[in-house]
Amino acid sequence: MTHRLFEGKDHASAYQKYRFTPPEELNNIILQYLSKKKGQPHVLAVDLGCGTGQNSHLLAPHFQEVVGIDISECQLEEARAVPGYPNITYRRGTAEDLPFPDCSVDLLTAASAAHWFDQSRFLAEASRVLKPRGCVALLGFSDLNTRLHYQDCGERLNQIYEEVRQVLLPYTSNRVTVSEGKLEELYSAIPFPDKERIDSVQVKSSISVRNLVGFIETWSMFQIYKKKDPKAADELLLKTQKRFLEEMGVMSPDTEIEQEMEYFCVLASKPG
Ligand SMILES: C[S@@+](CC[C@H](N)C(=O)[O-])C[C@H]1O[C@@H](n2cnc3c(N)ncnc32)[C@H](O)[C@@H]1O
Repeated sequence: MTHRLFEGKDHASAYQKYRFTPPEELNNIILQYLSKKKGQPHVLAVDLGCGTGQNSHLLAPHFQEVVGIDISECQLEEARAVPGYPNITYRRGTAEDLPFPDCSVDLLTAASAAHWFDQSRFLAEASRVLKPRGCVALLGFSDLNTRLHYQDCGERLNQIYEEVRQVLLPYTSNRVTVSEGKLEELYSAIPFPDKERIDSVQVKSSISVRNLVGFIETWSMFQIYKKKDPKAADELLLKTQKRFLEEMGVMSPDTEIEQEMEYFCVLASKPG
């Protein structure tokens, strides 16, 4: 079964604006893993469920060619509109049926996306298209462990963030729970003996209140809620921004908050 929750034009444009680029340090871990397992040259990386291309951009300087694959044409349109990446192409397709010959791909990645795939069909395709010793890297972050800090009101901001998650809980797909579980089951099902799971890469960054609220807008559960009740969904965003600003005692939504996030990554290498 495919999950089609990222199809709307508005959703794709929010993705382009507000979705996080994975941290450089996690990208380095993935590239070092590939170098250790397969070695050079790094010819072709395929970024599955690429969305608007943030993770594909990180791969571009390190490969001759990067192909971003996504099931949603709207997401791909937004990805193609970003200039400056001549070695990336974006193609519509699914992780379960990849348009590549056998043994042709050096690295397969999926950033915050593998939990949406049909596990066994995706793993069969990964085994088919990877070169011998080619690697798969499935990364994501656990939003349950996100922490916000601003002066002395961090705990209140975390509480507001948690309250938004609770409002959206009834609209949360069980696939999101799979991601929050750091892909444990998918990791166990990978048929390659050479595999590892990095549970926690802590990343600190700063984000404006406006962008944090925009990030909430990208959540699949928010989009499901918005389809059901557009007015209530818009109000939830407005109210959340207002509550953040009041708590912080500032007027401008451009005020920056410190954000601590926990990323994870599943790595595996196909036998030689
Ligand atoms: C949560 S978004 C992540 C997008 C991007 N990788 C990022 O890090 O922001 C998940 C993406 O996976 C895509 N997707 C879902 N199921 C898919 C499948 N079976 N094959 C390919 N893409 C899929 C969705 O259309 C969506 O763009």
